[in-house]
Amino acid sequence: MSAPNSSYDPVEVTPLQPDEVARMREEALAAIAAADSLEKLKEVRIAHAGDRSPLALANREIGALPPSARAEAGKRVGGARRDVAEALKERQTVLEEERDNRVLVEEAVDVTLPWDRVPRGARHPLTTVAERMTDIFVGMGFEVAEGPETEAEWFNFDALNFLPDHPARTMQDTFFLEAPSGGESGLVLRTHTSPVQIRALLDREPPVYVVAPGKTFRTDELDATHSPVFHQLEGLVVDEGITMAHLRGAIDAFVHGMFGADLRTRFRPSYFPFTEPSAEVDMECFVCRGASVGDPDAPCRTCGSEGWIEIGGCGVVNPRVLTAAGVDTGRYSGWAFGLGVERTLMFAHGVEDMHDMVEGDIRFTSAFGMEI
Ligand code: DAH
Repeated sequence: MSAPNSSYDPVEVTPLQPDEVARMREEALAAIAAADSLEKLKEVRIAHAGDRSPLALANREIGALPPSARAEAGKRVGGARRDVAEALKERQTVLEEERDNRVLVEEAVDVTLPWDRVPRGARHPLTTVAERMTDIFVGMGFEVAEGPETEAEWFNFDALNFLPDHPARTMQDTFFLEAPSGGESGLVLRTHTSPVQIRALLDREPPVYVVAPGKTFRTDELDATHSPVFHQLEGLVVDEGITMAHLRGAIDAFVHGMFGADLRTRFRPSYFPFTEPSAEVDMECFVCRGASVGDPDAPCRTCGSEGWIEIGGCGVVNPRVLTAAGVDTGRYSGWAFGLGVERTLMFAHGVEDMHDMVEGDIRFTSAFGMEI
């Protein structure tokens, strides 16, 4: 191995000459400044600061210099390399920041843009209210029963003790269905859910505890309080030793569950062919609680300043109905009720016009949320 060549003049080693080092440094700094993306900067880094970059190669030459010349050359090359590394670092920071800002703008989500996803549907409030009414009775142990909307006249009227000349049978209330031949079919669109009482009794042996929510039909014109298609919740209990007191208790439980725990109820004598005695069910007005009665200064729109709201009919099942359904009236007695679903929705949610329930405007429906 030969000794270092002491006559070696570093200035003669081209890559280590000050001008040359300065040129490499300037070239590197210019390339760094010109790199306009992180990808380009990566290439510049390899070209000007990598193992095979001019400055790295120059650095290697230092070892070949005589010791006396190494320090100065080392300082020169080292300084240039430090400047290049520093410039790379700064440029990297700037380009990363630019990229982050660009991404923020490009990937920003405009939350005010109209969306094109199909909104998830929700059930109609009449459906959900009917279900909530039903649930209160299911919670008391009742079973849900069903019957057809197209019903035999016998179930809709005869078995329920409507005599042939009862006014409810006449054309003014009932949709009669024509037979395909054009004559009478013996079928009607059911005018109430009470025929489900008969079907429930024919289907099962007492004890019977059923509720039947469903659609009903009458030849009414659509107005703010009437609709030719509406809904009821029927209830029927047939068991041994059943009295009207149980009926009152069940109605109270319904009113408390649906409208408020401390509301009073009352029964007003009434008439239905299928119950005896019969009553109309009222509940205390949950808005004015009777305060509007006789106070012209504080009228109540909810109860019409009556203090009470009618929610349905009820009574002790007429033994003729039990007999029609084959129930032993010596052993069993029962009661029944029919509650209006539309009325319940109107009172529970302040819906004032029946049109809103039937017109299908989703602005009405969606106000009830997405209950499913
Ligand atoms: N079906 C009657 C109606 O539509 C309502 C009703 C009243 C049902 C008394 C009953 C009842 O079960 O006991 O007007």
